Parts: sequence; C-alpha cells; structure tokens
Amino acid sequence: MEYLEIEGGVPLKGKVTISGAKNASFPVLSAALLIKGKMHIKNVPDILDIRHFLEVLKEIGVGVERTESGVMLDTRSEISSKVKQNEKHSLRGTQTLLGALLGRNGSAMLPSLGGCNIGARPIDLHLKGLKLLGVSVDWDSGYLIGKTNKLKGNSIYLDFPSVGATENIIIAAAVSDGETVIENAAKEPEVKNLVDFLNAAGADIKMNGSGIIKIRGVKELHPVDFGIIPDRIEAATFLVMGAATHGDLTLENVHPHDFEPVTMKLKEAGAFAEFPSDNSVRIYAPNPLNAVNIKTMPYPGFPTDAQPQMMALLTTANGSSVIRETIFENRFSAASELVKMGADIKVENNVAFVKGVDSLQGADVAAVDLRGGAALVTAGLTAKGITRVRNVYHIDRGYESIENKLQKVGGRIVRKEDDTV
Ligand code: UD1
Repeated sequence: MEYLEIEGGVPLKGKVTISGAKNASFPVLSAALLIKGKMHIKNVPDILDIRHFLEVLKEIGVGVERTESGVMLDTRSEISSKVKQNEKHSLRGTQTLLGALLGRNGSAMLPSLGGCNIGARPIDLHLKGLKLLGVSVDWDSGYLIGKTNKLKGNSIYLDFPSVGATENIIIAAAVSDGETVIENAAKEPEVKNLVDFLNAAGADIKMNGSGIIKIRGVKELHPVDFGIIPDRIEAATFLVMGAATHGDLTLENVHPHDFEPVTMKLKEAGAFAEFPSDNSVRIYAPNPLNAVNIKTMPYPGFPTDAQPQMMALLTTANGSSVIRETIFENRFSAASELVKMGADIKVENNVAFVKGVDSLQGADVAAVDLRGGAALVTAGLTAKGITRVRNVYHIDRGYESIENKLQKVGGRIVRKEDDTV
C-alpha cells in the first residue's frame, strides 16, 4: 500500500498551479450526454475520481480520449441508460448522470451513490425535483430506476440548497418542455460552471446568484468546447498549507473570489494575502497564527470541503478555535488522527473545539476521507519529525500529484510503498 512520508517544518515557498475543479468536471461531463457530437472539455483534472468517472462514461458508450489538458468526448453513438454496479466506480460524481441520462434517453438506472463517508448523503431532494419534472422513480436490487415519457418544466423549491440536486434538476430541465424555476438553489461556482457550459451549448438558463435559477427548456443542444473552472478546494488546501507552514505561496490559475471565505479566515488568523493578478493569489504568514472560529455553510459561506485542512492549521494557532460543521455530520474524521500528532481537539456532535498547542509531532496516521487526508498532509508539513499518511488513495481521489506540487515549493514529501501495511 502506498503512503506519503512527510518531514515537517519546512515553510512552503514558490508557485503552485491549481488544476481544474473535480466537482465541476462531473456535472459538465455528465451534461455533455444531452448533446450529440464531439466536444473538447478542457482543464479536467487527472485525479482518481475523474479516471473512474471516465471509465463509467466509456462503459455506457461515450467515446473518451484524454488530451493534454482535458478530455475529448464523442457522444454520437447510443448511450446505455444503465450504469453498472462497481466498487471502483462508487463515486458521488456519478449523481449527475441521473439527470443527464433522463434528459438523453428518458431513462436512467444507477447503483447507489458513493463518495466520501462523511454523512448519510441522502438523495431525496434530487428525487423530489426530478419527480416534479415528470420522472417516476423506483428501486430494484440496489439500483435507482428513473423513467419519463416527457420532461416537463415546473416550479421546484429545495428545502436545502443541495449542490447535486440543483445540478441534476438543471441538467434534466435544460431539455424539458416549458420553464423550470428552482428556488433555494445552490449557488456554488461549480453549478455556475455547469450553467455556463449548457448555455454555451444553446440552453436558456438564468442564474444570477440570487438562489433562483430559471431554465427554459430547449429542443436541442449543440456540441461546444468548454473550460472547467479552477478547483477552489485545491486552491484553499494549498492556501492553508502555505499559511500553516509560515511560507510564501503564490497560487496560479485560480479564481480568488471562489474561495474568498478561506482567504478571509486565514487573514483573520494573521496571514497576509495579495492578488498579483485576477487569476492568482499570494499567501504569506511570517507571524504566529491565531485561533479563529469557523462555521461551514453553503456557498458563499466557508466551504465544508476546506474545513478539515483549516482544522489542521488551527491545532497550532494561539488560543482556542470552535469549528461548527453544518453540512455533513461526519466531517471530523481527521480529528482523532490529529490528536495522535499531539493536537488538542474535542468533538461534540457537529462542533470541534481546538485548543492550539505549541507544535505537532510526526506520527503514523491514516486518511479516512479525501479532505481529512489533505488535513493530515497539512499537519505533517507543520509537525516536528516524520509523518506517514496511510490510505493515500483517498487523497489521490481529489488531488493531482499532490506530492509533486508540494515538492516544487520545498515540501519534503515522498510517496512510498509498504508491503506490510
Ligand atoms: C457536493 C460536493 C462535495 C461538497 C458538497 C457541499 C460533488 C461531487 N461533491 O456534494 O464535495 O462537500 O457538495 O458543498 O460535487 N442533502 C439532502 N438531500 C439530498 C441531497 C443532499 O439532505 O437530496 C444534504 C446532504 O446530506 C448534506 C447537504 O444536503 O447534508 C449538502 O449536500 P449536497 O450539497 O447535495 O452535496 P453533494 O452534491 O453530495
């Protein structure tokens, strides 16, 4: 099994180029199924979750070819409505294939949705929305089966601004009859990227950041080449790592506005941020950092996906921090591993109390989920001595060659193989 070995205590300095967004790639690549033709989707990250997703696309009949910066898709042939059950492919990103296959074929058959083990992850809001568009939903032998004779626009109120539910409804409604209005829709940049893709392909969707999305269904969409936005969570991760190691990092290929809550919190903690251009951000933290309180919220609030990394930083900040997780119930998996490194963290339900300690000590720790894994790497970079992060595949699901990017900015981190683990 592979693990990452980190020798901590080196300030990260230099430039990091941020990859395309994982969570925007899934809905855009899914929505491409509504179109018949060849399309170049650029800036798609080469990470484990995307590799698996591309395998799923191939299995259902999509022509997929990796290019230097993205993926060439050929959606002209018949596409199967059935996504086969497969351990390897059990990823949350497949959720948007539901809306896409319903839009293309009028039917979809998907195995239960996977992803990180960070909470119950129900799909009731996806189903509520799709049913209002005229979809019948059934379960058979672990498969979710959706069918429709005709998708018809409707008014849909979401009880919570779910990212995946908003995306599924947008995709299905884009090719429905009539108008759909989604109230309390998600406002995440990944949703906007999906809307921009569909509009570039001829859809009629209005999303102005108010939480109300209006979709006038069109008969047909046309092929279009398109670029995925930079990954705001990868950016947030490197930003936190730069500050946590008291380094000086410049991130390139970013949309700074998309991760502003993270930059603001780091500034509140005592780091400095500058914006050399519209697509870059510099973070530096010459002074000791101070405790800050965090509450995760839907966008534009503090992202739940950056919360564990921030927790790692706060373990050695001056004072006590309170972290309130409001999106996913099991999002403190890294806490017990951080405690092994000397952190003082107490978790009570969805709140973590972090008391800053002088320093962390390197230890053998294991990633339990993607962002928790990134938190352990962050901690390892600041700790005294050697940290080994096991279960590195969790990290590979969402980060493109994390050790290479860190090595380039001075991080002492190597990937190793251990047969005994
Ligand atoms: C997406 C992201 C994930 C991120 C999350 C929140 C992808 C592939 N993943 O996940 O990285 O952490 O947004 O920013 O894009 N909920 C329901 N019913 C539903 C759907 C969701 O109750 O039908 C709840 C969930 O349990 C959770 C909350 O809503 O508590 C947020 O989930 P959602 O916004 O849907 O996240 P995902 O789309 O799964």
